[in-house]
Amino acid sequence: MENSVPIAYETDVILRELLEEARTEILSATNAEELDQLRTKFLGRNGRITRLARSVGELPVEQRRQSGQAINQAKAEVERLIEDLANKLEAAATTSSEHKIDVTLPGIRNQAGHLHPLTDTMEQMKEILIGLGFVYDDYPEVETEYFNFDSLNTPKWHPARDLHDTFYTSDGLVLRTHTSAYQTRAMRKYAPPPIKAITSGRCYRNDDIDASHLPVFHQLDGIAVDRNISFADLKWTLYELMRLMFGEETKLRFRPSYFPFTTPSAEVDVSCIICKGKGCSLCSNTGWLEVLGSGMIRPEVLRAGDLDPAVYQGYAFGIGVDRITMLRYQIDDIRRLITNEESFLRQF
Ligand code: DAH
Repeated sequence: MENSVPIAYETDVILRELLEEARTEILSATNAEELDQLRTKFLGRNGRITRLARSVGELPVEQRRQSGQAINQAKAEVERLIEDLANKLEAAATTSSEHKIDVTLPGIRNQAGHLHPLTDTMEQMKEILIGLGFVYDDYPEVETEYFNFDSLNTPKWHPARDLHDTFYTSDGLVLRTHTSAYQTRAMRKYAPPPIKAITSGRCYRNDDIDASHLPVFHQLDGIAVDRNISFADLKWTLYELMRLMFGEETKLRFRPSYFPFTTPSAEVDVSCIICKGKGCSLCSNTGWLEVLGSGMIRPEVLRAGDLDPAVYQGYAFGIGVDRITMLRYQIDDIRRLITNEESFLRQF
């Protein structure tokens, strides 16, 4: 048929059939590839409509114009059909389940590791105290009785020893019951004063396990010894530390207390970090949270550290790191700090 010379009537019939065919085929195309093939089949350089248009020149002159117009209309119609379907296919592709973006889905959590809340708290306190002029030491968890008790004015007969349910090793050493065991060691190590030193880490007592007790817990102990140290220096240091840990408005309360190694001694409370002192369940409606023990170092202890109490004075403090961590993150059970549940740790 391509080689026959169509008269206008024939062109009309051919065009109508061609259009019908194109419409059917285009509307049943299901993907862009099929549509491309149809575009080539009808509109390509050697396509059916293109060839028909080319043959117009062979018509009698008076028929060329009319046939030309009819062919152009048919071409435009096929182009429109192809264009429409291409748009529909594209729209379907972007909303199909494979490509659809559901903006309501939860994001993917960053799985990067981070410090354990306990380590983070310990590191932060260390950093603050180093900033205040203290040096930091790691000290062994297995200690002699002498440094853990005797040098701290707690000889064997002293009733305070009973408060520490001590673990002993088979060769007569102890698992340190507090980081205060470091105090007289630090005096000897850093003499002559001024001495400002801290240590922190695990301590052990044979306590029954409950929501606030574990046989292994964490403390941070510090001492400052010099010629003119007073209770005011202790207060200032603790105030700075707690203000940086818990915020600018933090208040401290010093309650008279007893420790064998300090006099006067004080237990220190911070104003409740939740209710700011008004009273809530965290502070049992008292407005205060106990966080540490402290005091002025006793002459007996300075002497055990090879320092002359007639020349030097000093203060000491011991902080419960587990307690500070629990307050910081409002954790209600100390056991959570050591069980390493991933779902718990991931929150921090
Ligand atoms: N070592 C004490 C304890 O475990 C806490 C403490 C109190 C440490 C007073 C100190 C201090 O350095 O001066 O309960």
